[in-house]
Amino acid sequence: MTLRYLPDAGRLYGAEYARDPQAIYETLRRRHGAVAPVEIAPGIEAHLVIGYQAAVDVLTNAGGVWSKNPSAWQVRLPDTPEAAGMIGMLGHRPNALFSDGADHARYRKAISDCFQLIQPHKLRQLVTEVTDSLISRFAAEGEADLVADFARLIPARIFNLLFGRPDADSAGLTEALADLMEADGERGARGSEAFGRYIGELIQGKYAERGDDLTSWFIDHPAALQPEELVQTIVLVVAASYEPTANLISNTISRMVSDDRYYSSLTNGALSTYDALMEALRAEPAMSNYGPYFVRQPVHFHGTWIQPAELVLVSYAAANTEPTDVPDELRSDSGAYLGFGAGAHRCPASDPAVLIAMTAIERLTSHLCDLELTVPRDELVWRPGPFHRALAHLPVRFTPIRPDQPGDSPWAVQPPSSSTPSEPISPARSAGYATSAPWSS
Ligand code: HEM
Repeated sequence: MTLRYLPDAGRLYGAEYARDPQAIYETLRRRHGAVAPVEIAPGIEAHLVIGYQAAVDVLTNAGGVWSKNPSAWQVRLPDTPEAAGMIGMLGHRPNALFSDGADHARYRKAISDCFQLIQPHKLRQLVTEVTDSLISRFAAEGEADLVADFARLIPARIFNLLFGRPDADSAGLTEALADLMEADGERGARGSEAFGRYIGELIQGKYAERGDDLTSWFIDHPAALQPEELVQTIVLVVAASYEPTANLISNTISRMVSDDRYYSSLTNGALSTYDALMEALRAEPAMSNYGPYFVRQPVHFHGTWIQPAELVLVSYAAANTEPTDVPDELRSDSGAYLGFGAGAHRCPASDPAVLIAMTAIERLTSHLCDLELTVPRDELVWRPGPFHRALAHLPVRFTPIRPDQPGDSPWAVQPPSSSTPSEPISPARSAGYATSAPWSS
């Protein structure tokens, strides 16, 4: 694939981009308007949608020309390690994210129905158990890296339990996902392999014996997912929950501890954790450019010709921060703007994602109420990568607390230890899967 504007293309890789992506979006906006040529890795080109209205047009399939199917793009990729490293994130799979129309509706319904079986108060309890157990590992130290010690450990540990695997399996899953998300050739391929192994064992185990868990609900959902579809749906849910949720948590904390409006809220409630989450979703969305789309026919779109088989990426980060005349209330989505996407593929798990992030952050700040960054926020290091806005580290210090201190403490909550969450997570509390999913009666 060759785009015409390569000399001007913005680079969504390397240290400069990781340090200040907004500066690059700004330059692109000045030069190209709503749609700009970029490289997401050396030799891999894309159109980046950076205008707010243009992003909404893609996401809501204006004109009916937009598709999520990357097959035509994929077959024309060069034979390079960089291209191979992109397949994990952008290669076609039979799942909701990469399909359209009736196929998409069927996959999506399975996901939405199964997520609806998770009761919010059970999920909150599970997040509390997981986060308190993580906090108890560093609370007596007086310092921590809230990326490595906290945010990146939470989603995989929670979803590993929701999927019905023993808590001990979460470390391997976390490592596999970290490798996969780096999307840099060999490491990406290694992560993809380890992740595939985890999913294979998960599904085999649940085919053999159902439980009161997401995997079992997917298996028996009336959408009758075929084995490969089931694998890919679970792969999507694990992958889609891991990176965005980890980044949402760390990006939000980094704002709260470096901005007086939030900092004071830790003690006197000026602005809430929810406000901080919405601001992070708007100004620094976790999956900053991970909105892959394709056109079905040549299209002249907001000033740029786009051909089938060319990759288009919606930049939630650039669209959300574009100065625009669109009134705030029209694009708010509770303050998140396009942080959870829009249209048919809008995140189906935005409520549980906010619940997980909010509970985790509130546990942290209630146990460690004087958190502060050890470096100014503008010196924090961000992980390179075209798709995410992700801190490499979030070093903080705080007054240490001890296991024997009186009152509420992270040691007071039992860590999750069984092969399933401490209580069933669906409305039927004890009878197991057969009576907890409505489609099984
Ligand atoms: C509980 C954790 C999460 C789960 C299980 C989850 C799951 C998913 C799934 C399955 C999709 C594809 C839906 C479809 O194509 O119809 C999706 C889309 C999306 N999610 Fe999430 N997600 C989670 C958290 C998040 C978070 C924290 C963010 C943002 C910070 C986010 C942002 C998005 C966006 C922007 C899309 C749309 C992608 C597109 O238009 O191609 N998600 N999510």
